[in-house]
Amino acid sequence: MPAAAFVERLNEQIGHEFAAHQQYVACAVHYDGETLPQLARFFYRQALEERGHAMMMVRYLLDADAAVTIPGVTAPRVAFADIVEPVALGLDQERRVSEQINALAATAREAGDYTSEQFVQWFIKEQVEEVATMSDLLRVVSRSQHDPMAIEDFLVREHPGADGGDPTAPRLAGE
Ligand SMILES: [Fe+2]
Ligand SMILES: [Fe+2]
Repeated sequence: MPAAAFVERLNEQIGHEFAAHQQYVACAVHYDGETLPQLARFFYRQALEERGHAMMMVRYLLDADAAVTIPGVTAPRVAFADIVEPVALGLDQERRVSEQINALAATAREAGDYTSEQFVQWFIKEQVEEVATMSDLLRVVSRSQHDPMAIEDFLVREHPGADGGDPTAPRLAGE
């Protein structure tokens, strides 16, 4: 059985991941409305990844016979002044999640719950990638904000499709 303190925090994190899903859908819709299909696709895909993170955490708790409480989420931001703001927001969000995930690992370790600590390791690595991806994109979007087609071309080149899946990733609930 995972430590009670870890279960409580992981349930909170499920809420953060679902909130991130909603926020990225809102970003995608903003770009879709501006007819920037590659930026929209990038964020729709990112949103699905966030849902996946939540469902991995749900599965971990279910498999460990711990309580799962699916929370409501706060409303995402839906209005953006330009095409840079959603990416800047995304980078802030990823940095915040990295801190949350590190705090989760610390909670598990302090409780001597090494199974949960190991579960969190995958997310630590994932956050390093997500922060790097979003900060690269912010640099590109900031540089080319008055030439959106250059950003679209960058995404076609550098992020052509869903990456083939990570065999080391925890499984999702419902899979
Ligand atoms: Fe996430
Ligand atoms: Fe993320």
